[in-house]
Amino acid sequence: MGSRDHLFAAAALLLLPLFSSNPDDERCLTHLSQSLSDPLKSLHNWSATTFTSPCDGSTSFLSGATCNNGRISNLFLSNLSLTGSIPPHLSNCTALQSLDLSSNALSGPIPPDLGSLLYLAALNLSSNAFSGPIPAQLGLLVRLSAFDVSGNRLSGPVPASLGNRTGNLARFNASSFDGNKGLYGYPLPLPNKSGFPGLAIVGIGLGSGLVSLMLSFIVVCVWLRVTEQRSENDEER
Ligand SMILES: *[C@@H]1O[C@H](CO)[C@@H](O)[C@H](O)[C@H]1NC(C)=O
Ligand SMILES: *[C@@H]1O[C@H](CO)[C@@H](O)[C@H](O)[C@H]1NC(C)=O
Ligand SMILES: *[C@@H]1O[C@H](CO)[C@@H](O)[C@H](O)[C@H]1NC(C)=O
Ligand SMILES: *[C@@H]1O[C@H](CO)[C@@H](O)[C@H](O)[C@H]1NC(C)=O
Ligand SMILES: *[C@@H]1O[C@H](CO)[C@@H](O)[C@H](O)[C@H]1NC(C)=O
Ligand SMILES: *[C@@H]1O[C@H](CO)[C@@H](O)[C@H](O)[C@H]1NC(C)=O
Repeated sequence: MGSRDHLFAAAALLLLPLFSSNPDDERCLTHLSQSLSDPLKSLHNWSATTFTSPCDGSTSFLSGATCNNGRISNLFLSNLSLTGSIPPHLSNCTALQSLDLSSNALSGPIPPDLGSLLYLAALNLSSNAFSGPIPAQLGLLVRLSAFDVSGNRLSGPVPASLGNRTGNLARFNASSFDGNKGLYGYPLPLPNKSGFPGLAIVGIGLGSGLVSLMLSFIVVCVWLRVTEQRSENDEER
């Protein structure tokens, strides 16, 4: 090796740590890109080789991602016609401060694992097709100050850990939860009682059906008994 080669080797060693690789971010991005389908090819430069070192300090090599101290800190993937779902491994992006997947066509559940993203301050999943409950674990996110799951297909009660936060935690009003037919509880109204008349009508229908069935059964029994007695009488004669 000549001295020039030594120089190159030294330079390469010096440069290496700048292109920080992080196994957690790599796992997170790998799973995320596998779970998303990207028909408009907006994430054209999301490749496995980039996932090994997606950041150089605060420079990001991935469209839609920003970096801080060599870690993925924000994912802004709004309005890209994305389909697919959120992988639980998104929680491996442990330095994530904001996640915006709004206005896509994403579906499936919201993984409870997101409750372990300690630095998450903004979560926007609005205008998608997410279903299932809102995980109560999201209430563990003490830094969360912007939260939006409006316009999805979520159902069940709004967890008190999110709907009715206390102390220094940011509070969220109904606009964070609106537009999910199956969702109820503070700050949304309580379960819709209008379901009951419908049930009652079905009940009345079933009940009256049963009553008429029993009535016709009794009529048939009585008729059988009467004819039986008649034929007995006939035989006695
Ligand atoms: C990926 O795309 C983004 C924006 O489209 C750009 O800023 C970034 O430099 C690209 N990265 C590479 C490695 O091509
Ligand atoms: C969403 O993207 C489409 C193009 O794909 C654009 O026409 C539209 O204005 C965007 N909407 C918002 C709210 O940015
Ligand atoms: C990555 O995320 C998955 C799913 O939440 C979790 O089971 C796993 O422990 C995480 N890995 C690390 C190294 O934190
Ligand atoms: C979430 O994103 C939508 C656009 O997709 C925006 O209109 C809305 O204000 C955002 N919500 C919050 C809480 O920032
Ligand atoms: C919200 O929390 C406060 C304090 O914990 C409690 O007094 C109140 O009843 C709760 N409101 C609702 C609608 O759950
Ligand atoms: C609900 O909260 C949002 C901020 O998250 C705010 O912009 C909006 O004015 C609030 N709406 C009401 C009715 O308080």
